[in-house]
Amino acid sequence: MFIPGNLRRVIIFIILTALVYGCGVFKVTQYYEKGALATGTPPATEIGRNIFAQGGNAFDVAVAVGFVMAVVYPEAGNVGGGGFAVIREGNSGLIKALDFREVAPSAATEKIYLDSAGEVIENLSTYGARAVGVPGTVAGLYELWQKRGRLAWEELVRAAADLADTGFIVDAYLAGKLYENKDQLSGFPETSDIFCPRGEPLKAGERLVLKDLASTLYIVAAEGPAGFYEGLIADKIDSCMKIHGGLITKEDLAAYKPVWREPLHFRFDSLDIYSMPPPSSGGIALGQILKIVEPHDFSFLTVDSPDYIHLFCEAARRAFADRSQYLGDPAFYQIPSRLLDEAYLDKRRETITMGHASNSQLVGPGLPYSHESNQTTHFSVCDREGNMVALTYTLNTNFGSKLVVRGAGFLLNNQMDDFALKPGYPNTYGLVGAEANKVEPGKRMLSSMAPTLVLKNQKPFLILGSRGGSKIITTVAQVILNMTRFGLNPVEAVNQPRVHHQWLPDKITLEKNGYSMKVKQTLIRYGHNIEEEAPDGDVELIYIDPLGLMNAASDPRRQGCSGGY
Ligand code: DON
Repeated sequence: MFIPGNLRRVIIFIILTALVYGCGVFKVTQYYEKGALATGTPPATEIGRNIFAQGGNAFDVAVAVGFVMAVVYPEAGNVGGGGFAVIREGNSGLIKALDFREVAPSAATEKIYLDSAGEVIENLSTYGARAVGVPGTVAGLYELWQKRGRLAWEELVRAAADLADTGFIVDAYLAGKLYENKDQLSGFPETSDIFCPRGEPLKAGERLVLKDLASTLYIVAAEGPAGFYEGLIADKIDSCMKIHGGLITKEDLAAYKPVWREPLHFRFDSLDIYSMPPPSSGGIALGQILKIVEPHDFSFLTVDSPDYIHLFCEAARRAFADRSQYLGDPAFYQIPSRLLDEAYLDKRRETITMGHASNSQLVGPGLPYSHESNQTTHFSVCDREGNMVALTYTLNTNFGSKLVVRGAGFLLNNQMDDFALKPGYPNTYGLVGAEANKVEPGKRMLSSMAPTLVLKNQKPFLILGSRGGSKIITTVAQVILNMTRFGLNPVEAVNQPRVHHQWLPDKITLEKNGYSMKVKQTLIRYGHNIEEEAPDGDVELIYIDPLGLMNAASDPRRQGCSGGY
């Protein structure tokens, strides 16, 4: 059989990658004693394993992986973006949430994405300098290291810097992403010089050397966050903003601070679940979905039955309706305190009828007020000391704003699109919002990221999270239900096809080829609009058994890789 040269190269590359790393397309189930991790890409998992081997703990591994992903996974891994982590300290059992989300520049107002007629200007919040929020990743990873890192900061960052300096071979997945985004990436010479040299995106099997990014990382290794938010790199970001019409100033950079928050905690069955509080909607929406389905008798439901899909999507519909109305940065908007109250969720659940779809226009957000007053790339890491890290960070869409800071070699985020640019105007993920999430200077844009820890009998049980925009929330909820209510093992729980509902648009999204014709026909009979979409999400899951042995599973939908030591 004749196979063209390019295709042959890709096939050989995939097979070699799979053999070398023992994961990717061939997932391996193995239990680890000292530490485990699940990340979006094999090189990051490999470096994480090395850090464990050098005596590092889960915090050290998370920091090193965070920087390595910025090199080998440039569509989402970053130093020019931001994210969230939920962590547990093994010695004290203390659980905390770290917010290193981007913030709106001090010159940002409600009007910056609107034309003189008040209409949203297309692409301004997703492409180029105006789309960029003040990055949080470097400060966030430093904070994580300071919390309980054991190895030297410099060594952890150096692993990524050395990789950027010597370069690495582009895999088929990255080559595909570069090809898909080539037109926008070519729009900026500083980006195109790196990812599309010779005017064409790099192909699988070619070497990508990132000298400018390496210099940036060596500075961060030597100086910590001060080397990024002040001095040479801050100057470069500043001139990038001036050339391309962005709003971030040197003062905005110098003022950036990550925030430690109390994690969002709720009980589900007999489990304690800890996830991300606002400014992510991840924890609250996850909690609402799980608490709404909790009293339901699952003994007659199977994971792919129309009745389960219906119940799950009706719960998600209600959670996303509340998200649109009530969630935003808590420093700017008072979030109702009763969104996870049993009594409020009982009322929301009562409006669900089995066998009959609700209508999103009629459902709307609830009234979470007491009658007395009016109202992703994710990675998971753990070690045998009980330290747990669930970390999701992002540039927002693939390669973020597509804008590289000249001379500093990193891509900037387009996280500003996560604000509600105008009430009811859908963002990239079709999510709508209002007052709670309008653009304001210094404000953090609402997120769906849901890095999550689950404890059983007060002991580590699960660490998980995903990419996927709005689908992150429903993805994490389904994987938890797959393991706890349907008895699937970690690999099965991650592999199982997934559904999604986000209130508006009023439809159930079913993973393509995941559900039978009979299931689809039944859902239509119940009154649902259904649509099939290509598989999305990238769950990175760790399961810790009652003896403390660790098992990790990576999503087969992407090129994730789990491992351990
Ligand atoms: O914070 C959020 O919710 C989005 N910016 C996440 C983006 C994402 O998951 C992209 N991956 N598909």
